[in-house]
Amino acid sequence: MTDQLASPLQGGILLVDDTPDNLRVLSAMLTRQGFEVRKALTGQRAIASAQIVLPDLILLDIKMPEMDGYAVCQHLKANPTTSEVPVIFISALDDALDKVKAFSVGGVDYVTKPFQEIEVLARIEHQLRIQRLQQQLVVQNHELTRSNRDLEQFAYIVSHDLQQPLQSITGFTQLIQARYQDYPDVTIREYLHRIHDSGSRIQCLIQDLLVYARVGGDYQELQPVDCNRLLHQVSSDLQSAITKKQAVLTYDNLPQIMGNEPQLIQLFQNLISNAIKFVRPDITPQVKISATLQTHYWLFEVSDNGIGIEAHNIERVFEIFQRTESAKNYPGTGIGLATCRKIV
Ligand SMILES: Nc1ncnc2c1ncn2[C@@H]1O[C@H](COP(=O)(O)OP(=O)(O)OP(=O)(O)O)[C@@H](O)[C@H]1O
Ligand SMILES: [Mg+2]
Repeated sequence: MTDQLASPLQGGILLVDDTPDNLRVLSAMLTRQGFEVRKALTGQRAIASAQIVLPDLILLDIKMPEMDGYAVCQHLKANPTTSEVPVIFISALDDALDKVKAFSVGGVDYVTKPFQEIEVLARIEHQLRIQRLQQQLVVQNHELTRSNRDLEQFAYIVSHDLQQPLQSITGFTQLIQARYQDYPDVTIREYLHRIHDSGSRIQCLIQDLLVYARVGGDYQELQPVDCNRLLHQVSSDLQSAITKKQAVLTYDNLPQIMGNEPQLIQLFQNLISNAIKFVRPDITPQVKISATLQTHYWLFEVSDNGIGIEAHNIERVFEIFQRTESAKNYPGTGIGLATCRKIV
């Protein structure tokens, strides 16, 4: 057994067999390899023992009186405490039907008697490795969820607290601009204009960041949402941009889906405003929204006649602050699609 395997797994191996000789042989073999070994002569004792100290792995004989290996395995799998412990069956019968049953009751592997020591060891180590990786994944997942939550909280607080002082900067600049609109020095007026412009852009950025941080944090209640009505709402929200660009928005026969309405509005608003925005100035934007039913879900498509997204950028644009080279002449901060992905 390698040290790498030994470290995070401490419960040892539980051997279950109603024949004491078999137990002795297997136990001696595994102890020689450095494994901690516990033994049980019946299914009932195995279940009790596994519950007291959780083993890393169970080697389970199939043919036992009273409670056979399959029943023991089913019992272990039904109990949340023991359900994750890998079970390798030991069987004297090399019967296809038995193997199927062994897997269907939750076994991960089997060895048939008489067995070769090296094979049994290889199978055990293999299962322990999987077990160790799974445990690592669970821990890492936990850690990731936590740090993600912290980051979102951080983004939220920072953005929130930045709003107030920024409001003062843009507000006072506006006051100065109003009072000195006839000020003779054009450069000063230009500077004031730039301060106000930058301030407003940061305000937009903060607003977008706040939306991004808020989306999907907690469990969101899903409700039936009629997407035709939703789109009607979104297009009236975007009316000024639509009119300004003379954009044509088409959609019909959209389904009713389960969702969170404010977030779905946000989703379509981002997608449609992109579709209207990223269009050459000499072209009238045409935006089409459609939905087709797939086996288990609705596939929504939003298409436009704009500058398009190069295939190699398709993944990247959904990451926060990522914009394409061709978008550099259009305004934006690169948060919209990241928010969309979170919502979806
Ligand atoms: N309909 C589209 N046509 C062409 N490129 C697009 C389209 N939608 C998104 N993109 C590209 O994807 C990038 C990311 O989109 P996203 O909506 O996140 O950011 P943005 O529109 O630039 O800024 P924001 O939405 O935060 O104001 C855009 O900068 C652009 O490069
Ligand atoms: Mg956008």
